[in-house]
Amino acid sequence: MNTAPGAPSQDQLKALVGQAALQYVERGALVGVGTGSTVNTFIDALATIKDQIAGAVSSSVASTERLRALGIAVFDANDVDRLPVYIDGADEIDSHGYMIKGGGAALTREKIVAALADRFVCIADASKLVSVLGNFPLPVEVIPMASARIARQFAALGARAVLRLKNGQPLVTDNGQHILDVSGLHIRDPLAFEAQVSQWPGVVTVGVFAFQRAQVCLLGTPQGVKTLNF
Ligand code: 5RP
Repeated sequence: MNTAPGAPSQDQLKALVGQAALQYVERGALVGVGTGSTVNTFIDALATIKDQIAGAVSSSVASTERLRALGIAVFDANDVDRLPVYIDGADEIDSHGYMIKGGGAALTREKIVAALADRFVCIADASKLVSVLGNFPLPVEVIPMASARIARQFAALGARAVLRLKNGQPLVTDNGQHILDVSGLHIRDPLAFEAQVSQWPGVVTVGVFAFQRAQVCLLGTPQGVKTLNF
């Protein structure tokens, strides 16, 4: 993102929305916590009110470690019926609250925790707001033995799927699976797209969050935090 001289940096915008998200945290209750650099600023802010919450349900090993290091209790998703709110970032968000997520490879647990929550509050800097999803390569978590076939299915749609690597080896998610990053998509009907790709054999989770869309987005802009309600 290009920033004018004197304008807040992307990191400052992330910190701004991380702090602003505290207003959505129900006191005395559990909070769902996402993953990523924007959420890290939220976790740091959450630590300042940790005595006022019951704890957190986390969407990744990385967020769990950060929460626990700051003294916030982390609960197993299986022990929780519902959460008032889930706070997470996004790689892209559109004007309906539909998102692409998974840049941090945590999309499967993110979707699970989001599904437990009454409300998804997305925190993002202004560069994440788009008119059509798909410029950011779409992360898809896959069972390793299915990755080549799934890549061919995306090729048939005119897109290009590439296995995500880490240190020259396929990245292994918290769930022991692989990630395909798919470029060349213009996702004009996110609900239909998510439903379609989710049915392909070997797809664990597609990084389109349409069924688990955001109801609120706190967008960090040079003019301050803008609240979008969907
Ligand atoms: C992780 C995610 C993140 O929310 C997304 O990648 C945004 O991350 P960041 O806040 O670092 O830009 O989906 O799987």
